[in-house]
Amino acid sequence: VKCSVEITPPLFALIGPSLAKIKFLSSDWLSLCTSPHNAALANAPKHIDHFSKFSPSPLSMKQFIDFGSINACEKTSFVFLRQELPVRLSNIMKEINLLPDRLLTTPSVQMVQRWYSQSLMEILDFLDTNPDDHKVLSEFVDALVSIRNRHNDVVPTMAQGVIEYKETFPQDAVTNQNIQYFLDRFYMSRISIRMLINQHTLVFDGTTNPVHPNTIGSIDPQCQVEDVIQGEFYAKMLCEQYYLCSPDLIVQEMNNKNHHHPISIVYVPSHLYHMLFELFKNAMRATIETHESSNNLPPIRVMVSLGGEDMSIKVSDRGGGVAFRRIENLFSYMYSTAPAPQIGDHSRAPLAGFGYGLPISRLYAKYFQGDLQLYSMEGYGTDAVIYLKALSTDSIERLPVYNKTALKNYKMAQEADDWCVPSKEPLDLRKFKVA
Ligand SMILES: Nc1ncnc2c1ncn2[C@@H]1O[C@H](COP(=O)(O)OP(=O)(O)OP(=O)(O)O)[C@@H](O)[C@H]1O
Ligand SMILES: [Mg+2]
Repeated sequence: VKCSVEITPPLFALIGPSLAKIKFLSSDWLSLCTSPHNAALANAPKHIDHFSKFSPSPLSMKQFIDFGSINACEKTSFVFLRQELPVRLSNIMKEINLLPDRLLTTPSVQMVQRWYSQSLMEILDFLDTNPDDHKVLSEFVDALVSIRNRHNDVVPTMAQGVIEYKETFPQDAVTNQNIQYFLDRFYMSRISIRMLINQHTLVFDGTTNPVHPNTIGSIDPQCQVEDVIQGEFYAKMLCEQYYLCSPDLIVQEMNNKNHHHPISIVYVPSHLYHMLFELFKNAMRATIETHESSNNLPPIRVMVSLGGEDMSIKVSDRGGGVAFRRIENLFSYMYSTAPAPQIGDHSRAPLAGFGYGLPISRLYAKYFQGDLQLYSMEGYGTDAVIYLKALSTDSIERLPVYNKTALKNYKMAQEADDWCVPSKEPLDLRKFKVA
């Protein structure tokens, strides 16, 4: 009993209600208390406090490239990551704790929290190990791979938590804003952590990518944008499977640096692919649903332009557009109207999922200092523009940091609006008439 009393609060916080829901017998308690794994998890908050005091160190694309080629050194990468990964994990874990209680205590969010604690502790196991020991280095790669797999379903699980919360509690503007603020930062942190893990595991697994031998980890120093666009046959295939037709894609390039050369940038092709896939799915769906009765589908036009500072890609459709008032909501995790996603079901891939296509794509664009914006004309169509940095020296990770400003943003109270609310009843000016 003493044991359970002492460890109950942190343990409950870490094991989550999915386990906590089970009625514990005293023997269960005993095994939980004595399991070395759970004992380690109970220590996590202390480590989170410590590592969240450090700021994450953003890397530039150039550093990623150097780190993975001329300066490739597994030992250096290992020593960097065993500090940097706990810092990034802890910074964002501090913010999870600031979520509204009613969201934080949903089984899904508790599960995510437990995954994070477990992964943090697994990396910390390497703090006192010898970087010169090859066995340590290979165990570290194995640990990273298992952490990456553990976190595969973080996005749908978190989305599930938001749905559970929305179904149970009435929503208010401040909470919605907090959740949006948190999820943008949380998913951005996740993108960055996966980037670090992918680079280390891909660069140091001793093999080269047979299809793209020039890639450095997940980065292609000469990512040909048009190739990525043309590789989007999957979106087209999905579209045809679902609607039995698909609009044509017309691609045009404007290379202002090197006129007769196809545009290429230093980038992570899978990130670019993800963004374009989401934009194409949206554009195709809008086009088909607006021109259902017509035999001619207007094509989707893609314009790629490389300037001195930006590399921009515009995807234009004539799918009827979106009202201006709704644009901001399209990037909201809370306004998503789609049904609950099926966790673990990776086979399902309809053209409209759970409404995270745009917000997550915007995060990918922002991750290396770019952006994604939607310009729409209701009644006509939509232009979606991806802005990326043309120069690899400008492509630097954009990372959330847990500090006083972040804390303040969560504590923000609802203040009165400083713009008048238009009244439904127009003012009766006759009252002001001078007799
Ligand atoms: N090009 C477009 N034309 C018209 N409406 C669009 C366009 N792009 C997005 N939308 C609207 O924005 C909503 C949100 O888009 P988003 O891609 O974020 O989610 P989704 O398409 O509903 O689901 P998911 O992308 O997760 O499969 C869409 O449901 C659609 O109503
Ligand atoms: Mg979509």
